[in-house]
Amino acid sequence: MLIARTLEDLRRHCATLRGRFDSLALVPTMGALHDGHMALVRAATAHEAAVVTSIFVNPLQFGPTEDLARYPRDEAGDRAQLESQGCHLVWVPDLATMYPPGDATTINVEGPALRWEGDARPGHFRGVATVCAKLFGQVRPDRAYFGEKDWQQVQVVTRMVADLRLPLEIIGVPTVREADGLALSSRNRFIAVSERPQAARLFATLEATARRLAQGAAADPILDDARATLTREGFAVDYVALVDGPTLAPLAAARPLARLIAAARLGSVRLIDNVMV
Ligand code: PAF
Repeated sequence: MLIARTLEDLRRHCATLRGRFDSLALVPTMGALHDGHMALVRAATAHEAAVVTSIFVNPLQFGPTEDLARYPRDEAGDRAQLESQGCHLVWVPDLATMYPPGDATTINVEGPALRWEGDARPGHFRGVATVCAKLFGQVRPDRAYFGEKDWQQVQVVTRMVADLRLPLEIIGVPTVREADGLALSSRNRFIAVSERPQAARLFATLEATARRLAQGAAADPILDDARATLTREGFAVDYVALVDGPTLAPLAAARPLARLIAAARLGSVRLIDNVMV
């Protein structure tokens, strides 16, 4: 497995890989890799592609009160996992490469970025869109892979790629879960042991709620029930919403492409999840 830490190395290694493979696939990550990321790497190896995984903890997508400093970092562990899954190249840029001094350009996506995580984490999607646009320009992949746990992120990046006519395809990969349903996330390690059994109730509540919504009844009272259930389970609920999958616009009742999305805090950890309706 190759490693690039400078743009010069990245260009050289990508050129080599392009000569040997039919296409190039990018898996953008912030490290602290888990089986959810490995599912992205495995999906990316389809189409005889060379797989490039980027590891960069992107300060621009963290708010001033968020957990940038405590975001887990384990480059050696990440590299071992990536190698075992057949990743071909790891791209580990430093801060000055991603945000050179005097840098004055960011990307602001509206539409799917406006609500939910966009409200709860002002500036978050500007950070995500900006770093993804930079990574796409550096690696020039044919496809990039994102986990559907961050459903809104997938839609924001897809919108950006369509609007800027960027020459790549965005692929969402289904969420990988623990046996009890908890969606894998780098932040799960911060869930208190005593609260871990409750954490799985987020997915269980979403599944039960999605089944009720799928009958076609008005969404509001069903969503109120879901919020009340989660609050009883010990969550501080940010939102539980029925939305149109691609645009994230709220829906009054289920219809094709509807998605049930939620964010709730359990102790010091903010969990997000979503299911198809
Ligand atoms: O999902 C993530 O890990 C990050 O938001 C991403 C896509 C790597 C951009 O920093």
